[in-house]
Amino acid sequence: MPKRFFQILSTLLVLACSLPLAAQSKSVDAEGHKWWQHAVFYEIYPRSFADSNNDGIGDLKGITSKMAYLHDLGVNAIWISPCFPSPQVDFGYDVSDYENIDPMYGTLADFDRMVDVGKKHGVRIILDFVVNHTSDQHRWFIDSKSSRTAPHRDWFVWRDGKGPGQPPNNWISTFGGSAWKLDPTTNQYYYHYFYAEQPDLNWRNPAVEKAMLDTTRWWYKRGVSGFRLDAVDTLFEDPNLTDNPVLPGINKQGDPNTDEIHNKKLPEVHNVLKKLRTVADESDAVLIGETWTSNIDELKEYYGSHDNELQMPMDFMFTTVDKLSPPEFRRQIAQVDSAGGWPVFVISNHDKVRSYNRYGDGKNNDAIAKLMGAFYLTLRGTPIMYYGEELGMENNDPKRKEDVKDPIGRTGWPNEIGRDGERTPMQWNTDTNAGFSKKDPWLPVPPSYKTHNVATESKDPNSVLNMYKKVLALRHTNEALLEGSYTALNEGDANVMSYLRSYKGRAVLVALNMSSSPQKVTFNLADNGFASASLKGLIATPQSSAKGTEVMLEPFGVYIAEVTK
Ligand code: GLC
Ligand code: CA
Repeated sequence: MPKRFFQILSTLLVLACSLPLAAQSKSVDAEGHKWWQHAVFYEIYPRSFADSNNDGIGDLKGITSKMAYLHDLGVNAIWISPCFPSPQVDFGYDVSDYENIDPMYGTLADFDRMVDVGKKHGVRIILDFVVNHTSDQHRWFIDSKSSRTAPHRDWFVWRDGKGPGQPPNNWISTFGGSAWKLDPTTNQYYYHYFYAEQPDLNWRNPAVEKAMLDTTRWWYKRGVSGFRLDAVDTLFEDPNLTDNPVLPGINKQGDPNTDEIHNKKLPEVHNVLKKLRTVADESDAVLIGETWTSNIDELKEYYGSHDNELQMPMDFMFTTVDKLSPPEFRRQIAQVDSAGGWPVFVISNHDKVRSYNRYGDGKNNDAIAKLMGAFYLTLRGTPIMYYGEELGMENNDPKRKEDVKDPIGRTGWPNEIGRDGERTPMQWNTDTNAGFSKKDPWLPVPPSYKTHNVATESKDPNSVLNMYKKVLALRHTNEALLEGSYTALNEGDANVMSYLRSYKGRAVLVALNMSSSPQKVTFNLADNGFASASLKGLIATPQSSAKGTEVMLEPFGVYIAEVTK
């Protein structure tokens, strides 16, 4: 009997000691939330964040030097757009070596140091994994094109033309022209959904899959906390090369519109995502997806049927609500909530006109920038910020074709002006080039850097930056915002977007005036468990306030309050 008792006791002891450890290593909280569900992510376009050696191009040492800034802002993870060796045709999205750093950005030693310094500041590193294609300068492709029997021939998609001068089918490159390019060495065409310098990998080849999975392992060992997977929609193509249906009209590059049913979102992509996820799980890492879904079912699929694909597929449908429309935002949030996965909110990135311009009305842009920050940073889900958004950085679009750097802006001018405007240098202070570099940067800063920069805005309590800081600080400390459910309030209101975030009997109310006139709203929170509620302000714009449960909001005003019983 005593022997058995000691056996049980020791088993219990072992269990008791190992449980917290296991829980810790998986970073799960009481709600079962993982680290990435509490984290705030921030996208950095490395060419444009901070230039440590004054050559006009940002670099890893530059990023490392700004870790304290990122930490103080409330950022927990940075997604760095591709910083690997690259001919820079697509500014890094044409990778010529997946396991190195481009010399213009630094070295692997600089990378390791960035990881270490990040760790000290509680900032994790997420890399951008360009899974669909390599650069035409990658050694795999150089070998692949050298002969029809080369070891890497089948790592890319090669086909005969239909006839002399005729590509294998009617698929169009999203960057213009046919998606097929004839290579004279072997007289076959290779497939490229993006630029011709970005040949598509053949994911049907197990050797490709293995090499790519190994690449993620290699980076996890180096301290990476996850990947943003580039262009996952286009991983697979119909092997029969069926023509896509042609639609009426032409696109911005002058090509016929087509319905890309045979070269996008093929079901095979989910097998690959599951495999990438299995590897990610070994390192408690997160996979973020560049997922251009057109409906909620497609988004649902990217989470995987058993939460076994992407933890964080980005919801770009949210960004298609390109105006301050409470009804449309409500609809979109309700849809994402219904998908069952953890929502991911983004309002801008390096491919999209900055939110400052998209939502701004030209007169109240700063107020609107604060409102948008207060909005998506208080929703249930993980936000991904875009560098400079916290300052109200604006697009600085090229005025002349000869100034354009992004190739699609040159081939598509003036219908498509390219993406330079949203990729300009981070605005640090009022020095020349906004303190980004002593040399003229690769893209020019807009004149508004004089007022919209970190140094100036830090001193102004009413700046966009300080609104972001306040909201992020609240988000990190308030359980209702971290863990709570989302309930839309006053759903008939076309001007004020409002909602409750509730957790364990406590709640935060967020009221956002999306109109240009003052608004007064009353909330009845009895159905939400607060029969005689009143509001205790947590964050408010200067002219917004509450009396009982009546909230007064200035034009584009913000009022965030604790609901008290
Ligand atoms: C993704 C990137 C974009 C790039 C493209 C091709 O859409 O976000 O910047 O041009 O993939 O890699
Ligand atoms: Ca540099």
